Amino acid sequence: MRDLPPDKLPVWEAIPRLELGDWWKEEDLPIDWDRFLKPGPTKLEIGYGGGDFLLEMALMEPSARFIGVERFGEGHRRLVKRMMQEKALNVLPVMGDAYILLNLLFADSSLHAIYVNCPDTWPKARHASKRLLTEELFTIAARKLCPGGSMYVSTDDAPYAMQAAQAFSKTAALESSHPEEQWLLKSPYPTETRYELKWRREGREMRYFIYRRKQERV
Ligand SMILES: C[S@@+](CC[C@H](N)C(=O)[O-])C[C@H]1O[C@@H](n2cnc3c(N)ncnc32)[C@H](O)[C@@H]1O
Repeated sequence: MRDLPPDKLPVWEAIPRLELGDWWKEEDLPIDWDRFLKPGPTKLEIGYGGGDFLLEMALMEPSARFIGVERFGEGHRRLVKRMMQEKALNVLPVMGDAYILLNLLFADSSLHAIYVNCPDTWPKARHASKRLLTEELFTIAARKLCPGGSMYVSTDDAPYAMQAAQAFSKTAALESSHPEEQWLLKSPYPTETRYELKWRREGREMRYFIYRRKQERV
């Protein structure tokens, strides 16, 4: 493991391989995020696309640290460039598949929030097995969230929302923060994601979920 002085260097200087996105391969796992980011509640966005939401959230909440996982290289490089321009010291993106990275990079009970927004680029039946809003992902997410930590999900696709609702209901370690409603129609976020804006402009209705990790392990 390299010996870096994280308190003195911004993340983009501390990790020379940041632009490649696979910098985590040189680290002991799970990652000790304190080596790169100031201590604070750790929040993760899965599938950050171009990184607009992640960066915006990080700039709005400087006392928290925002980690992103994305498998789209162009989006990753776009975010790295923007975080340097904005001098955002509390953002750290990683490139790769969310199922693998969520399992490997994060200690159990270490995350305060997980966001998955508009994850289904191609909502075709043949892509169903590749989808992110599955019981499998929610089960891993529940393990990685701290007790009381929340998982936020949004989608514009009605069948996919139904699939997410069913997957959430099967994930015993998570409980709904809106038990009277299957999903929310009003955004719980202080900002919008790129796709959310796009879908709203096209007149599509968004659906949001917030699920909390139960205090007790089940
Ligand atoms: C439609 S885009 C939405 C981007 C952004 N969240 C937004 O709302 O503007 C979906 C993103 O999820 C990413 N994604 C889908 N499955 C993924 C996976 N298994 N691991 C990492 N990223 C994934 C895609 O690469 C894509 O960038």
